[in-house]
Parts: sequence; structure tokens; C-alpha cells
Amino acid sequence: MKISKLAQSLGQSATLKLNEVANALRAEGKPVIHLGGGEPVEAIPAGAAEYARNMIDGGFVRYTPSSGTPALKNEIIKYTEKFYGIKPEKNNIVVSSGAKQAIFNFLVSVLDKDDEVIIPVPYWVSYPEMVKLAHGEPVLVRPAKGLLATVKDIESAINNKTRVIMLNSPCNPSGQVFPEQTVAELVELCERNDIYLLMDDIYNRLVYDGMKAPSAFRYAKRPLNDSIIVSINGVSKTFSMTGFRIGWSIAGEELTKAMIKVQAQVSSCPSAVSQTAAVGALSEQGDFVENLRRGLEKKRDILVAELSKLKKVRLDIPHGTFYSFADFSAYDPDSRRLSAMLLEKALVAAVPGIEFGLEGHLRISYCASVENIVEGITRIRKVLDGE
Ligand SMILES: Cc1ncc(COP(=O)(O)O)c(C=O)c1O
Repeated sequence: MKISKLAQSLGQSATLKLNEVANALRAEGKPVIHLGGGEPVEAIPAGAAEYARNMIDGGFVRYTPSSGTPALKNEIIKYTEKFYGIKPEKNNIVVSSGAKQAIFNFLVSVLDKDDEVIIPVPYWVSYPEMVKLAHGEPVLVRPAKGLLATVKDIESAINNKTRVIMLNSPCNPSGQVFPEQTVAELVELCERNDIYLLMDDIYNRLVYDGMKAPSAFRYAKRPLNDSIIVSINGVSKTFSMTGFRIGWSIAGEELTKAMIKVQAQVSSCPSAVSQTAAVGALSEQGDFVENLRRGLEKKRDILVAELSKLKKVRLDIPHGTFYSFADFSAYDPDSRRLSAMLLEKALVAAVPGIEFGLEGHLRISYCASVENIVEGITRIRKVLDGE
């Protein structure tokens, strides 16, 4: 049977691959600890559950407008005003089935064949594949040093085919936060060169050590409807609602219209129940996000302390997300081989750094339970340091 060249060219999701092997081992009765996950273990906000339950009990669950319900857009407007300092209109918003679909809508709406998209390394595994799906060309930019590309690194990759720069701060997988100065300079660079700046803000409230992941809109000279900035957010990470699949984009009106057309043809609209649940989460936030953030910061501290006991690991402390991205190259420079060995010998799943574009590292999540974090790293230490 024919499979398109495009589909054949796509990589399989690294985490799904890891899950398959981990699940197979579990099925054999082995006590695998999964430190490769990408979602909080905490329960969803009570408001989200209540709103969803009420809708289902009401008996009517129908298509919604393609770009999302007015009720959810109203909450997103309030949320954006509070956390970004700009007030979008409803026609600047598309609610999607996860931030992932929002990013895809955007790429399909702005890329023509062979247009280039600059992606700083290390990157979220899906970015290059999504660019390829939109017929674009991913251009991977390695930082000259450390885990954060600088404006100079990024600028040197710009040419007349560059349409988009994708920035994720704090970053999956490194947990690093791009400095304010970098974001400000990138906004200026993109405005000057008419290049879109895709800000993937999905983890922007999960930052620690008193740091902030500033909104790019703060540095914009152009008004929102003429903006090169597109901001992506959602309830998956900050509200522990990954399974609801609700994300959104904030962008200029003309681009938003194009993104709505794309989404309407692909999936009609996001789930009505999930949108209602998201209204519940956003309208009754209370301390939910702050409690989640504080809990994750404590788990981050525990993971960092455990990792520091390994003799040859080098770690840049993560200041956001729920991932760490430590350099294990002194044990094995081949991260796939190391990850497979640790899964087999320590029964611990960690994602190979090469999947995020940077060899020699492992992405170890701290969204697992404290017991699993401690036990998982202890097992890794026993295998690698023999103690
Ligand atoms: C950087 C980044 N962006 C976007 C997403 C997708 O989020 P959603 O679940 O809303 O599709 C993820 C999920 O892992 C992510 O890590």
C-alpha cells in the first residue's frame, strides 16, 4: 500500500516509542519507573470537572463555532490581559484541540513550500515534524554554548526564505528560560524583517526561583492586528488537563481568520465538553496553578539533589517546565543507547537527548511522584556509578 513520502519522512514521537517499550516491560511484571512523562500527576481543577459534568448532565453536546465558544474566548481574553498585559479581541483568538493543533494551524497558514522555520536546539520533538507537515523546512540552530540559543545564533540562520522563528520559554526539554533581553531583541529583529515569532507559552507560568517568562507582546512596537507575534497557550500543563486537548492562539485578525479556515476544514471545532471544562478551569482558578507550580519547584529541587549525587552528570539547573536536561555524555555519548540501557538495567525510562536535537543528554521529568523521582535516580546511580 502506498504511504506518502511526507508521512514516511516523519519521525515517531520519542515519548510514545519509550512508552511502548516501558509498557511491554510492565506487562512482563517489571517495576518500570517512567521519568519520561510530559504531564503533571495532579488531579484537574474542581471547576473544570464541575463544568464538564454539568454540560454532559444537560444532555446537549454539539458542534461549537470553529474558533471556539464565546464563553471560553471571554475567559481567554481575561487570562491574556492578566498574564500578558494585552487585551485581545475575540477575533484574535482561535481555540484548538491542544496547543499542538494551534501551532499546526499557524504553520499551515503562513508557510509555502520550502519556507524556512528557525528552531533553536534543543527543541520540543514535534516542532520539526510539524514544520515538515506544513511543507516547510526546519532550520535547527544549535547554541554556540550552553542550552539557550542567543539572538546572534538565531540571526546567523536568517535568510530570505525565513518566515518563522519558534521560541519555547521556559523550554521543553531544557527547562531553561530565555532572558528578557533575548525575547525583546527577537521581537525587534522579527518586526524589522517581517518574520513571525511563534511564542510557545505553554509552560509560561511554571517557572521557579522568582524568575518570569516574559510575554513577547511586552516588547512589541506593532499593534496586535499588525503583529508578527503569535502566542500559543493552553490548559494542558498549567491546569493539569492534558487529556482535555484545549489550547489556543493569540494573533492578528487576518492571520487568525486563516487559522480558523484551516482548523474548520481539519477538525470543525474543539470538543464542546473540553471547552466548557476549560471555562471552569480559567474562571475559577483560585490557587490551582500556584499550588502546582510550588509542588513542581519542590520536585525540581529533589530531582536536582538526586542527580547531583551522580559522579559524572553535568546539569544546568532547570528554572521552568517539569523537565531537566542533564549531560550524561561522560557515561555514554550516545543518548539512545544510554536510554535503552537504563530502561533495561535500571528499569527507568528517560528520553534520549538526540530526540530533542542534542546528543549526550537525557530528558528526565520531575512531574512524576516524589517516590518515583528518588527511586528512579537512585536506580540510575546504581547502574552508572555502581553504588
Ligand atoms: C513545548 C510544547 N508545546 C506544546 C505542547 C502541546 O500541548 P497540548 O497538550 O496543549 O497540545 C507540548 C506538550 O508536550 C509542549 O511540550
